Amino acid sequence: MAAVKNTAHTFTLNTGDKIPAIGLGTWQSKPHEVQTAVEAALKAGYRHIDTASAYGNEAEVGAGIKASGVPRDQIWLTTKLFNNDHKRVAAALDDSLSKLGVDYVDLYLIHWPASVIPGEKAVFDDWNFVDTWREMQKLVGTGKVKNIGVSNFAVKNLEILLNDPSCKVVPAVNQVELHPCNPSPKLVAYAKSKGIHSTGYSCLGSTNSPLYTNDTLKALADAKGKTVQQVLLVWGIQKGWSVIPKSVTPKRIEANYDIDGWSLTDDEVKTIDGVTERFKVCNDNWLPIKVFFGDDE
Ligand SMILES: NC(=O)c1ccc[n+]([C@@H]2O[C@H](COP(=O)([O-])OP(=O)(O)OC[C@H]3O[C@@H](n4cnc5c(N)ncnc54)[C@H](OP(=O)(O)O)[C@@H]3O)[C@@H](O)[C@H]2O)c1
Repeated sequence: MAAVKNTAHTFTLNTGDKIPAIGLGTWQSKPHEVQTAVEAALKAGYRHIDTASAYGNEAEVGAGIKASGVPRDQIWLTTKLFNNDHKRVAAALDDSLSKLGVDYVDLYLIHWPASVIPGEKAVFDDWNFVDTWREMQKLVGTGKVKNIGVSNFAVKNLEILLNDPSCKVVPAVNQVELHPCNPSPKLVAYAKSKGIHSTGYSCLGSTNSPLYTNDTLKALADAKGKTVQQVLLVWGIQKGWSVIPKSVTPKRIEANYDIDGWSLTDDEVKTIDGVTERFKVCNDNWLPIKVFFGDDE
């Protein structure tokens, strides 16, 4: 059997484009940390970077890409439309491209299904994510986005979107929280049945992750001579979603990418699937609208 090369693995989207299975996350990276992290990741071999206008770091991400010397066309770059910008999709994308210093992104996502009135903790009553998607669809063919998708869409909202007559383009990706304590099998299966690829965020359990001290995960990682982080990433890839671990620490960035040459057995995957503790990093209680309905599992 050929050696497993997880870092070279890609998932083919419904557009035919291939998203690298592992990318670098950049949320909560402090100013002046992101440029170095992006540069370190690209130099370590990563070819996929995840950012968002809401992270306030697109300019630094762009600077990191330039500093790495890796040609733009070898990098998968994802950014996201924030909630305040739902009524100005084309302009918000132009803002992101200008900050990133690039002509196009590989993937542009609606960050949350919440069309928030700028400056208020309320959503528009004459506009929702279906209207936003109509505008997103107009970006296809402009050369500024290769793929469009969504994020934080539960089954209920995916159904609303896909069943609307104005929906002509099926989202290429739904980026959602996925780790052993928030596995969302119903959501992932539903997305797959509609041709939507899932990307798992907070795949390591995010800041101060409880997963690093989880007994089941630790025992399994120790037995394989791998870190818990490496096991979590390979588990996600074998489950069929792309993973975007965040780190601003070059040694961790490298270690998280050191996942070639091995895989998890079916029994090991089942063991991780069997973790019963539950937690969610990103809730919807800070939004003026509910977007999670507790029925993704
Ligand atoms: N679409 C959305 O709404 C959404 C929401 C959340 C996240 N995301 C995306 O998904 C990415 C990943 O999620 P996340 O940032 O929540 O968290 P994460 O990737 O699950 O975990 C990041 C945390 O783990 C630490 N870490 C990373 N590698 C490590 C290692 N090998 N050993 C020990 N600690 C390690 C990092 O520390 P250091 O950085 O200090 O090294 C950081 O504290 C985000 O950065 C963002 O791009 C998207």
